[in-house]
Amino acid sequence: TTARNYSISVIPGDGIGKEVMPEGVRVLERAASLYGFSIEQTWQDFACCDYYARHGQMMPDDWKERIGQPDAIFFGAVGWPDTVPDHVSLWGSLLQFRREYDQYVNLRPVRLMPGVPCPLVGREPGDIDFWVVRENTEGEYSSVGGKMFPGTPREVVIQETVMTRHGTDRVLRYAFDLAATRDRKHVTSATKSNGIAITMPWWDERVEEMAKNYPTVTHDKYHIDILTAQFVLNPDRFDVVVASNLFGDILSDLGPACTGTIGVAPSGNINPDRTAPSLFEPVHGSAPDIAGKGIANPVGQIWSAAMMLEHLGEADAAAAIMRAVETVLAEPGLRTGDLKGKANTEQCGKAIADALA
Ligand code: NAI
Ligand code: MG
Repeated sequence: TTARNYSISVIPGDGIGKEVMPEGVRVLERAASLYGFSIEQTWQDFACCDYYARHGQMMPDDWKERIGQPDAIFFGAVGWPDTVPDHVSLWGSLLQFRREYDQYVNLRPVRLMPGVPCPLVGREPGDIDFWVVRENTEGEYSSVGGKMFPGTPREVVIQETVMTRHGTDRVLRYAFDLAATRDRKHVTSATKSNGIAITMPWWDERVEEMAKNYPTVTHDKYHIDILTAQFVLNPDRFDVVVASNLFGDILSDLGPACTGTIGVAPSGNINPDRTAPSLFEPVHGSAPDIAGKGIANPVGQIWSAAMMLEHLGEADAAAAIMRAVETVLAEPGLRTGDLKGKANTEQCGKAIADALA
């Protein structure tokens, strides 16, 4: 068991991040003891607004040295808009990790779960189960551009999309690799080659090139406008959906919303080359409106732990956590108030840890 020892940097952050993180860690520790691996945790007190209040910045200058070289980062949520503007807290913490650690894939599951009311009529758990793979470093979110003649009638603003072969191919490769591990082995690409007539036809060409390396994986493409409609109308069509930064940003909120899970969904910011740690966090934020009450739903944090273990190669433990989550979500007495249950954060977390055994 000593060979399977993982170092995890634990960063709870703000608000309910501090309440759901102990439950995420509880389930991680239980999974470790049941599946014969060990977790070495280093808790960090930065990347939160309390740190900002003491030091005037979100993280110390030497944050990279302090984090060291963990196998992964387990993150809660950041933000406390009453004291620190959201763009300051976000750019000073999470976005630093994404860039400095070259976490070029943003990965989110879209899965119907028991106990979570589905906004789409007539769908049952099992009907919808796919992944959104978003390019996380370039594309439409570039810093190339500028403003001329501001505040005058001649005002001009330009922001260029930047797509590189390196950046595009690596996210496509991740999507095809992921599809190859799944039963349906299908990739859907989000495009808009009719309207965005330079970069998007090129993106489509890169998809075709990449697909040649994966004879067992089928693929298709949709323009982004009709793709959003298909997410709602025919979500059972999808297996792995890959998209540029902007399209992926939209799809990775729309997908979980179609399954009602935006409050319990996890996400991975992944460096698949493993040149730096990947970061796993719930999709939700710090929820200042309910922070401090001990009632937050810990499932997003716990599901993030499952994704992290999958990334670390502990697929059996990850699958067991997901089974435990589904067992507990199906039980009104064990789920939290946001899902019309009766449990508090700790009771729900303990129930999931107990269901693991
Ligand atoms: P939010 O996700 O924190 O809250 C939205 C609503 O969902 C609130 O009513 C909240 O009570 C509820 N909610 C969220 N998570 C919940 C949970 N686990 N259990 C029960 N209810 C839950 O989004 P909001 O209010 O827009 O942002 C609050 C702060 O969080 C801001 O500072 C924002 O910048 C930050 N934020 C941080 C993110 C991150 O760390 N990745 C992501 C989203 C927002
Ligand atoms: Mg978003």
